[in-house]
Amino acid sequence: MAGQEIIFEQIRSSGCLSYFLGCKRDKVALVIDPEEAKIEEYLGLAEFFDTKLVYAVDTHTHADHVSACKMLRDSADLKVVMHAATDAPYVDLRVNDGDAIRCGTVELRVIHTPGHTEDGMCLLAGERLFTGDTLLIGGCGRTDLPGGDAEKQFESLKKLAALGDSIQVFPAHDYRLAASTIGEERKSNARMLIAAKEEFVRFMTSRKPPLPRKFQKSLEENRSPSHGTQRGLGEGI
Ligand SMILES: [Fe+2]
Repeated sequence: MAGQEIIFEQIRSSGCLSYFLGCKRDKVALVIDPEEAKIEEYLGLAEFFDTKLVYAVDTHTHADHVSACKMLRDSADLKVVMHAATDAPYVDLRVNDGDAIRCGTVELRVIHTPGHTEDGMCLLAGERLFTGDTLLIGGCGRTDLPGGDAEKQFESLKKLAALGDSIQVFPAHDYRLAASTIGEERKSNARMLIAAKEEFVRFMTSRKPPLPRKFQKSLEENRSPSHGTQRGLGEGI
């Protein structure tokens, strides 16, 4: 992945972070964890950079905001990509651990990271790691919502820790900072500093934070079919 050919934009919306990645050479782009309120911004970026949006990727089934994948699929004629474990019915490409999502010179390697949700995945693009809600800066995603599993979250964080300290971390939420590295998180993230699985599970299961404000609406929207024509369900990448 040649750095100068890559377009990289981080988009914020009330605590959520999404990402626009594009290939200048082939004039194609994708979005990661797009949010409903930012659809016009993604389409505007695609136009500004003279690229066609070909994929919208959700790192997991979001329970705190409405994903824009379904709407972008209808308005931009792109393919929606999620992990094979998802039960979202509007997904075109279901990917598995080790798969590569290619968009011109952009290549995202899929790392299945269940724990926050069963369909959680992180995406490695060169030195950039898009961690969804698996690894947050100074924290990790909660494990008490549907599909959550603290033991699996522990294993997933270990998997990420092994990727190397120089890897840059780009999460789906920016409660503290907008970016970090695996090395920084290994040193300072209280969740990653817990060495024993039993202690991690005890910590994660002892907390019961309130449900996200848009919990019910988000899950209903993010699990319901597209208004447009269904196509290509279950296709691999
Ligand atoms: Fe989440």
